Amino acid sequence: MAGLGLRGAALITGAGGALGRAITLQFARDGVRRIAALDLSDKGLTETAEALKSEVPNVEFLPISVDIGDEEQVIRAFGSTVSKFGRIDYAINNAAIAAPFLPTGETTIADFERVQRVNLRGTWLCEREALKQMVNQEPLEALFIDTPLVTPVIRTLLGPQIDRTPMGRLANPEEIADAVVYLASDRASYITGSVLSVSLTLRSPRADADPQFR
Ligand SMILES: NC(=O)c1ccc[n+]([C@@H]2O[C@H](COP(=O)([O-])OP(=O)(O)OC[C@H]3O[C@@H](n4cnc5c(N)ncnc54)[C@H](O)[C@@H]3O)[C@@H](O)[C@H]2O)c1
Repeated sequence: MAGLGLRGAALITGAGGALGRAITLQFARDGVRRIAALDLSDKGLTETAEALKSEVPNVEFLPISVDIGDEEQVIRAFGSTVSKFGRIDYAINNAAIAAPFLPTGETTIADFERVQRVNLRGTWLCEREALKQMVNQEPLEALFIDTPLVTPVIRTLLGPQIDRTPMGRLANPEEIADAVVYLASDRASYITGSVLSVSLTLRSPRADADPQFR
């Protein structure tokens, strides 16, 4: 098992950029063997491919030239990823651009719209395609393990909430231990003052009822 032993397929936007490349390499080091890399920059994608090949050569790498602000291109990119890998387990919305570093009073509508098109619209388009795929696929794990604290009575009472968690089950103790050790480790060296929720986060019942989310 490599690194964190992650399985499944990852899709990373802005994977030709500095942070996107680092994320791509880290996913590979931690075990992911199918990675789709989306970026506007072919040069950036080539550099990421080369870095990956020299460090973790046994990764199926799918570079896709895409402008994330363009709906058709995003739909095509996600479609190609699912055609090749069959699923998407990790969707990392990393691509973004920066506005000119000016006082707000000196910025233009064109600057505002350019940033909104990539950072807001583009991120939303990618999230939408990722969610469409993810709600239709089986989760990687389907474990259903309790601790003794969750008595059968509590379990029955919690039933409806548990069914509405993304995993459809309670967390197991090891999953909590993983999060604790992660936060204590160098892997979380720049995470301070944040709350990491490893809990019964609920899916929205309205989203569940909406056929578009199915
Ligand atoms: N560098 C920082 O200090 C910093 C700080 C906070 C947040 N971030 C965020 O980190 C993320 C990565 O930034 P980075 O620092 O690696 O910058 P970067 O410029 O190296 O990477 C951004 C990548 O996004 C790609 N991209 C831009 N527009 C695109 C589009 N329309 N479609 C597809 N790809 C597009 C670029 O080609 C580039 O490869 C961004 O979301 C950025 O906002 C960076």
